[in-house]
Amino acid sequence: MFKTRIFAGAALAIAIIANAAAHAQYTAKEWPDGPMKQRFVSICGGCHDINRVRVGYTPEGWLTVTRMMQNMAAPVPAEEWPAMTEYLIKSFPERARPVAAILPGPAKVNIKMWDVPTLGSRPHDPRAAKDGSIWWTGQLVNKLGRLDPKSGAIKLITSPTPNSRPYGLMIDSKGTPWIAEFGAPKIARIDPQTMQFKEYTLPSPAARPRRLALTDDNTIWYTDFARGYLGRLDVKTGEVKEWPSPSGPKSEPYGIVFTKGALWYAETAAKPNTIVRFDPKTGHFQSWAIPGGGDIVRNMDVTRDGNPVFAGSLTNQVGLVEVAQEHAASTQY
Ligand code: HEC
Repeated sequence: MFKTRIFAGAALAIAIIANAAAHAQYTAKEWPDGPMKQRFVSICGGCHDINRVRVGYTPEGWLTVTRMMQNMAAPVPAEEWPAMTEYLIKSFPERARPVAAILPGPAKVNIKMWDVPTLGSRPHDPRAAKDGSIWWTGQLVNKLGRLDPKSGAIKLITSPTPNSRPYGLMIDSKGTPWIAEFGAPKIARIDPQTMQFKEYTLPSPAARPRRLALTDDNTIWYTDFARGYLGRLDVKTGEVKEWPSPSGPKSEPYGIVFTKGALWYAETAAKPNTIVRFDPKTGHFQSWAIPGGGDIVRNMDVTRDGNPVFAGSLTNQVGLVEVAQEHAASTQY
């Protein structure tokens, strides 16, 4: 009994010291020392803010993140990855997290999970198809997956374009998935039977299509985040038509939906962020400032009665665009 108490006390003291040390690492300007410090400082800020590591991860989490960074070809020499992983695990442990509250109740559910085949693939944008299958984009391994929840069978296909970073995913009325290849720049259609990719290359090599909206099974609309365009792809002819977004080349169009006869999307770098309406029949744009600024509307959806909804990541808000009836009906100007 006595022994146990001492032990518990010691463990607590160690935990407090460890926590203080970890805390100091998160807030210190200097990065923690270690054999990989220089490599870390010179490489890990190459594609994104190096401070991302400060979130901290469990050792398993770091294994996954370093796999993701290898998938992205972060230029760490192959033989140094184990030491880099060790440095990250040691220097940036997971921060204190809330313990999950598990509440009992009358509903009965069964949550099933499947491991996707490729490590560090960063599954993104899940979609449920009408045939019961679940599709997802494997953002950092250039793959698209299809899971049959009945048998657990997974089909995985690799985009023919290296590093194409599959991002936005939509399924058309026939059950065919379409993806925006954010790194390519291409839009791809996947035949759900043969799993064949058909890619449509956008005219500008600098285009970075982020999200998609479908108006019918032959017309795909996309937001070109990098160039500030709204684009339309006619998949029958492969013809692409583009319109400069009202706030210009740096406006970063992102979340997009099709509803009430028009495309609605957000310009996420414009200050304030805007909601843009584009009438495909007349080619007219109209736009509104998002009250409060919107700041980074990454994704949008549509209510049952057809009104666009969105979220503003930095303003900490969600929003609803109530479209007046008469406006929705009149497409003539
Ligand atoms: C070649 C580009 C590149 C380099 C170099 C790079 N990363 Fe990344 N990293 C990415 C991309 C792409 C993502 C995911 C997309 C995003 O959110 O920007 C990402 C995401 C992350 C994340 C967030 C992962 C998550 O989903 O929670 C962490 C942490 C991270 N990187 C750490 C590192 C570390 C540590 C290094 C150095 C060993 C590094 N990165 C080097 C491209 C890179």
